[in-house]
Amino acid sequence: MKIKPITYSILIVSFLLFVGCNTTTNKTSSSTIKESDLIDQKVDSILKLMTLEEKIGQMNQYNGFWEITGPAPKDGQAAKKYEDLKKGLVGSMLNVKGAKDVYTLQKIAVEETRLGIPLLFGFDVIHGYKTISPIPLAEAASWDLDAIKNSAAIAAEEAAAVGINWTFAPMVDISRDARWGRVMEGAGEDPFLGSKIAEARIKGFQGEDLSSKKTVLACAKHFAGYGFAEAGRDYNTVDVGEQTLQNIILPPFKASVDAGVRTFMNSFNDLNGIPATGNKMLQRDILKGDWNFNGFIVSDWGSINEMIAHGYAKDSENAAEIAVNAGSDMDMESYAYVTYLKKLIDEGKVKETDVDDAARRILRTKFELGLFENPYKYCDEAYEKATVGKKEFHEGVLDIAKKSIVLLKNDDNLLPLQKSGKKIALIGALANDKTSPLGSWRIGADDETAVSVLEGMNAYEGNQLTYAKGADVALGRTQFMWETKINETDTSEFSKAITIAKNADVVVMVLGEHGLQTGEGRSRADLGLPGVQQQLLEAIYKVNKNIVLVLNNGRPLAIPWAKDNVPAIVEAWHLGTQSGNAIAQVLYGDYNPSGKLPMTFPRNVGQVPLYYNYKNTGRPVLNEPESVFWSHYIDEKNTPLYAFGYGLSYSKFEYSNLTLSKKTFQHGEKITVSITLKNNSNTKGKEVVQLYIRDLVASYTRPVKELKDFKMIELNPQETKRISFEINEELLSFYTKNKKWETEPGAFKIFIGGSSDNTLEDQIQFLK
Ligand code: BGC
Repeated sequence: MKIKPITYSILIVSFLLFVGCNTTTNKTSSSTIKESDLIDQKVDSILKLMTLEEKIGQMNQYNGFWEITGPAPKDGQAAKKYEDLKKGLVGSMLNVKGAKDVYTLQKIAVEETRLGIPLLFGFDVIHGYKTISPIPLAEAASWDLDAIKNSAAIAAEEAAAVGINWTFAPMVDISRDARWGRVMEGAGEDPFLGSKIAEARIKGFQGEDLSSKKTVLACAKHFAGYGFAEAGRDYNTVDVGEQTLQNIILPPFKASVDAGVRTFMNSFNDLNGIPATGNKMLQRDILKGDWNFNGFIVSDWGSINEMIAHGYAKDSENAAEIAVNAGSDMDMESYAYVTYLKKLIDEGKVKETDVDDAARRILRTKFELGLFENPYKYCDEAYEKATVGKKEFHEGVLDIAKKSIVLLKNDDNLLPLQKSGKKIALIGALANDKTSPLGSWRIGADDETAVSVLEGMNAYEGNQLTYAKGADVALGRTQFMWETKINETDTSEFSKAITIAKNADVVVMVLGEHGLQTGEGRSRADLGLPGVQQQLLEAIYKVNKNIVLVLNNGRPLAIPWAKDNVPAIVEAWHLGTQSGNAIAQVLYGDYNPSGKLPMTFPRNVGQVPLYYNYKNTGRPVLNEPESVFWSHYIDEKNTPLYAFGYGLSYSKFEYSNLTLSKKTFQHGEKITVSITLKNNSNTKGKEVVQLYIRDLVASYTRPVKELKDFKMIELNPQETKRISFEINEELLSFYTKNKKWETEPGAFKIFIGGSSDNTLEDQIQFLK
């Protein structure tokens, strides 16, 4: 059946009008038709008109790297994509940006294909589009869910203005391995914090109403296990037991479904012998089955074909069969579905109903976005111009940047700095860098658009500020091989830095990783300061011990010398566009830091994976072992450099008087646990009060501590407050031997504190 677009438009319009009238009528009656049911009816009506090829087309996603508004590509891959687009064989494009380019392609889909079905436009809006927020790991350090949600909402509004209607974020992979470059993209090591942040980000991206011009589809990725790559090497094999999968890796994905996320992305890695992309247990049984997810799953880039290299599929046709049967709905850049699915159905290897189901899921999101009503709603060039880089966006990213900073050390109150009359030496290549603070994964932003630390500090004019680079950041093999041209061992600029340091009252050193040293494909085998930066730090220390070390990094670093010697350390990650302003405001005390580490900092890379919620073992050792036959290293302590949940403030918070409303409880009851928090300083400040538990004896061994709740509390100077948490049965549950989440009766320790390694504690009993 050949339906001309114009005929089809009339069909759709009459259908929508019919349904629209019905909705209005029904809204006033008691039998309101649910919005989702209406969408399902609309989807079904379109599916009935579609050929098998067109349904498969919805499952096909192409990358759009060619000059979209130029002449139509004639040869090669781009020409094939263009032809497929016109035939209605493409459901989504990625990496097309700008209202004009998006309009050009959307117009082809809507006006030149038989059915005129609009496209989804996906893009990695990971921490902002052009106005860049802190990297996600940094934002996680804020523990401020409202600020995180707001940051995602800013990213969504700006991205939607340039034509994007789908972001490949948030990455909700838990990781315990600082070597893995993509820890910068997640929320750290903890499933509870990770779940809360996943929810905040999804609500920020998707808003209350997906059909608004300011919201985009979110995507929980990478399903699943990607953050557990062996040895922290990106794309490496993942071999984890059911307990780790269920209790640590999956919770943030489940929280994403509960938060209403509309898409998932599967993953490159092999999970216990089956590549995640071809993993039916994950996608069909858990996600679409147990969790009842009715959005769709996109593959990762080329991950369907990568099952050939994994040794799981013999060729691309076989890979398509495995992926679709496992529940992977959309093929990102493997060309496998568009090439082989029809044949696989004809041969009975794939069920047509599974293709219907995938197409239905994808079409549903297009309705939810309102694309059928107005396919060009994201293509308004005047709106784009007025929106990108708005003042409010800059204010928003500055706010979250300040909140993401973690004060690691502040001996003798070296910080905050006095605002006048001081000579300050600023040292380090990263201090004068306007690109690195943007971090990894900021492909919509332009280089050189971040505020540098030098610029941020120069805004405070009362002091005398001098700057010297000291040394370059050794980039190693980062983006492209040719970046290795930077000399990694050059110390020729040390002397200038030493000279300014000698004459200074305080030295601020900005050291760490360049933004491109983190992210996808940027795993590191060493967690120290790259290149000669450690040498530079020690050389400066010899002439002036008054050092404030400002770290820029996308992962925990192992910097024991700095911890032992440098009086003040500020963890400033890669903070995005407003980086330098945020750092300067913290250094000068205009913002009192309140961040807490979302990931453990090791002393030594050899301790990794190192995480706070470890199991006790039968031979536990935390500090000095009494003999060798204990779980320890003969050449390093077991304890971390900085623990999960740790972070100081210019205020001094004191915890005391932990009380329980009762000691035992049973099903349907709860216990209130309270502490007294005092701000024993003259500075108003915020503290993240953390609640941990330990299940002392269980059918599976349980971690020594598990975060279960937290509250951000603001206290005036010398103010005291009682802070309470409620403990109920659900809070104590885990994935048990019975293969479900439940609470086993017995004793539990309860801990409250300002860091996972510094808590008050008591014990309760759950009776059942
Ligand atoms: C990454 C994904 C990303 C995709 C599209 C892949 O290499 O693993 O996280 O969304 O590329 O850019």
